[in-house]
Amino acid sequence: MTDAVPGMRRPWPVELREGQVLLRPLRVRDGKRWRAVRAANLAWLSPWEATHPDVSEVAPSFRQMVRAFTREAKAGRMLPFAVLLDGELVGQLTVAGITWGSLRSGHVGYWVDRSVAGRGVIPTAVALAADHCFFTLGLHRVEVNIRPENQASLRVAHKLGFRPEGVRKRYLHIDGAWRDHATFALTAEEVPGGLMARWRTLAADLAADRAAVLSHQSHQLPPDSAATHR
Ligand SMILES: CC(C)(COP(=O)(O)OP(=O)(O)OC[C@H]1O[C@@H](n2cnc3c(N)ncnc32)[C@H](O)[C@@H]1OP(=O)(O)O)[C@@H](O)C(=O)NCCC(=O)NCCS
Repeated sequence: MTDAVPGMRRPWPVELREGQVLLRPLRVRDGKRWRAVRAANLAWLSPWEATHPDVSEVAPSFRQMVRAFTREAKAGRMLPFAVLLDGELVGQLTVAGITWGSLRSGHVGYWVDRSVAGRGVIPTAVALAADHCFFTLGLHRVEVNIRPENQASLRVAHKLGFRPEGVRKRYLHIDGAWRDHATFALTAEEVPGGLMARWRTLAADLAADRAAVLSHQSHQLPPDSAATHR
């Protein structure tokens, strides 16, 4: 085992699973699928994408990016996961900026293919990754930084019970400019039973609420509407 960082309890590679969602290392051979998903989701992703402040900087190829990520992961500074749903790559979740010493913190970034959005894939992935950070690696704090305009991502932080810590002005270079970000965090003490356990309960409650709303709506349809819509 490579104990790259004193205190780090488990090195890379890592696989984490919950139901149909699998997190495993992003690989060079994911390139074709990764590029295809990103190309199909250009408009969906670009408002939230990190950009380089120096426009003359040439973006690395996918291969270069994965190799750099893997080196960082082996050194205990990053967790670059591909997010798979039913065995197919549908997104990415990265815990980056992992700092040890007296801080023991990392920040989470994520995206998912629009065609599977709204199915709880990323909250599940964040819960898996956060529990791994807290209870396997021994990190103390996990944070997420979100543009205040990003309603879908704010919902993810809210549903998982991340604690709002305020707004960082012009914090990250996103979509071509320095953007304000709302910071949300959790420490290990805030989820003694694990974030996944919390998310499982909440996801079941949300599903029950949705079923109740649908059932209520179907009871309000006029008596002949079923025949009309057949
Ligand atoms: C933010 C994001 C990762 C959420 O992932 P997800 O797996 O869809 O998460 P959820 O299923 O919990 O859905 C989150 C919210 O998205 C919204 N949503 C649901 N279905 C949607 C759809 N088809 N299209 C757009 N938004 C949708 C809902 O408000 C939902 O919250 P709610 O259903 O609990 O009210 C995803 O929207 C995404 O990739 N967006 C673009 C990239 C991005 O914003 N990355 C994060 C930067 S901080």
